[in-house]
Amino acid sequence: MSEQEHGSSKKVFVKTFGCQMNVYDSDKITALLSKDGYTATQDLEDADLIVVNTCSVREKPEQKLRSFIGEMAPHRSRGAKVGIAGCMAQHAGADLFKQYRGQVDLVFGPDHVPNVREIVGQVEKGQRVLANSFLDNTQYAFVREVVTDGKAGAFVTIQKGCDNKCTFCIVPATRGVELSRPNAEILEEVRAVVATGVREITLIGQNVNSYGLKVPGELTFAQLLYKVAEVPGVERIRYTTSHPRDMGDDVIQAYRDLPQLTSHLHLPVQSGSDRMLRRMKRFYNRERYLEVVRQLRDARPDISLSTDIIVGFPGETDADFEDTMSLLEAVRFEGSFSFKYSPRPGTPALRLKDALVSKRDMSERLTRYQKRQQEIQIESNHACEGQTLDVLVEGPSKWDPEVLCGRSSTFKMINFAGPKELVGTIVPVKVLRGFTNSLRGELALGVDTSS
Ligand code: SAH
Ligand code: SF4
Ligand code: F3S
Repeated sequence: MSEQEHGSSKKVFVKTFGCQMNVYDSDKITALLSKDGYTATQDLEDADLIVVNTCSVREKPEQKLRSFIGEMAPHRSRGAKVGIAGCMAQHAGADLFKQYRGQVDLVFGPDHVPNVREIVGQVEKGQRVLANSFLDNTQYAFVREVVTDGKAGAFVTIQKGCDNKCTFCIVPATRGVELSRPNAEILEEVRAVVATGVREITLIGQNVNSYGLKVPGELTFAQLLYKVAEVPGVERIRYTTSHPRDMGDDVIQAYRDLPQLTSHLHLPVQSGSDRMLRRMKRFYNRERYLEVVRQLRDARPDISLSTDIIVGFPGETDADFEDTMSLLEAVRFEGSFSFKYSPRPGTPALRLKDALVSKRDMSERLTRYQKRQQEIQIESNHACEGQTLDVLVEGPSKWDPEVLCGRSSTFKMINFAGPKELVGTIVPVKVLRGFTNSLRGELALGVDTSS
């Protein structure tokens, strides 16, 4: 394919479901296609190419895809091409052409994002394209183009795939085996996004703590954190997702050494019951998790923790669920993504057929968990009232352009009045009120707002 950029203005609309990996991939799709004259649009009416980047981690996202593809029919009739990318594309592949007969032009899995220009080129010539093979790790090249959209934060991928086998999880089947990205490439991307004004780097992967361990001579994850912190202009570092089993002393030490490392960690626990953790094959127990939490709080007393919870995993009794509730009390998470267990095709948990949890019990457990989690969040947000927090200003708030929105190091969202010139900077904000999911504040004295 010619590298030459041409002037025609084609438009691509990308809809993203799923996790941070999909958000990142969607940006890369846009960045790569821009070399062939595509600009991103938020307006479906405008789009020559519509790509939906899918997730298959639970059943619900699949229903979302069904309705999305249905809504695309009139756009396809007027000549737009419609594509399915992401984890469902990887997993369901050719079946999607059958399922959505005459409604879809291209299906490509995450491994084929780097080839999206070739794939779209073929589609433009009228071909229907399926690309869902797993590439050999030696053939895979991470995309190096970066997106320059003026945001204060950027994701930088450090690994792809996952070598764990958590019994509920479809991700290893959709994202393939783990591959760590060479640290030189990661640091190059960090420097490139910082040059566009980015202040906060979020290193992403399915199990970032295992970064580099299988590559002789590669940095460990902790060493990578220190290297990223050395890049001039990096003011904040976050990372996701961590596996509690692989949370080593060296990473915990980094919370003592690196002021850039933010005071927030998303550390998915899934359940507070040792019996469930064994059945999930998570390879840590409740005590080990609590020990990691203690060590993190020793190293960084103000660290806030969030987590993922699955309720109603096969065999979960009332007593197991109470263990999850008591873990919530013991840790006092600042936030949880909590889900009802959703059986996924091809996952080992499908074989666990004893003592399945009824839909009603699952709903009751989820409601109880979420209610208590919310109460804890409100208590914690009230406790911030009167404090002054350093806030990285991300942009105008969604509901009021006069109001700015940003995040504290502890990942609390805070809204306050201020000039838009502050976007992309870190400013002190005094917290006036704490709500369930956000704080309201005012710029702390000493900040010049006269511009
Ligand atoms: N790699 C990350 C998580 C990836 S999936 C990790 O190891 O934590 C994101 C979250 O979705 C998981 O943490 C889990 O809580 C949830 N999840 C995954 N599979 C699920 C399933 N079959 N049913 C319900 N929730 C699921
Ligand atoms: Fe899924 Fe477990 Fe891998 Fe996370 S670590 S992506 S939950 S298999
Ligand atoms: Fe979903 Fe794939 Fe991410 S299944 S959670 S988009 S890795």
